[in-house]
Amino acid sequence: MEGRVALSEPQDLIVAMDVPADTAEYERNIEHVLITAEEIQGTLRNLGAQITHDYEGRDLLLVGVLKGAFVMMADLARHIHLPVDFDFMAVASYGVATRTSGVVRILKDLDHDIEGRDVLLVEDIVDSGLTLNYVLKNLRGRRPASLEVCALLQKSGIQRVALDIRYKGFEIPPEFVVGYGLDFAEKYRNLPYIGTLKPEAYRDIS
Ligand code: IMP
Ligand code: MG
Repeated sequence: MEGRVALSEPQDLIVAMDVPADTAEYERNIEHVLITAEEIQGTLRNLGAQITHDYEGRDLLLVGVLKGAFVMMADLARHIHLPVDFDFMAVASYGVATRTSGVVRILKDLDHDIEGRDVLLVEDIVDSGLTLNYVLKNLRGRRPASLEVCALLQKSGIQRVALDIRYKGFEIPPEFVVGYGLDFAEKYRNLPYIGTLKPEAYRDIS
């Protein structure tokens, strides 16, 4: 099948899509698809419905944590049927490695003041939780009217800080994943699903 990639087993996780030939090579680095594009969209639809219900009549500001959250933010926002403002913040807790450093730096701050706003922080993944914990503390100091979190993924059992995540998509095993905004060495963010990488993919980048 020219121009198509089928990601193998288990059978019910197969994702097939039309991709240009050069993309096909890069998607062969995916070992398993953990969450399909359809599952992600279904979950975002549900989260969007809950958020729509909870924030009716309030002053909702979505704050995305760059870069990982940009894909999810775009899809989630279109399932929220309310007037919504957007802002973004960029933080870094990872270099090209796959383990958290515990050091969080603000690379780009919010454009707007959040005092008195109903802020919903949108995060791609909560791994150790250190990034989220730092960002929440920082935002809380700016006195928003409310501050909640929507995270697409949470890795089970490895959070190093207690976190209250009001809107959660999926719990996944504590493995490194890519796709749907998540990168390895800045690649794979544009995959519409979430998957793990083959060991050789980690060697490719040195
Ligand atoms: P934490 O501070 O350990 O919770 O890590 C949070 C940040 O690290 C996320 O916002 C991601 O940018 C990145 N990260 C954590 N786990 C993964 C992963 O499995 N794949 C890609 N990026 C990850
Ligand atoms: Mg991130």
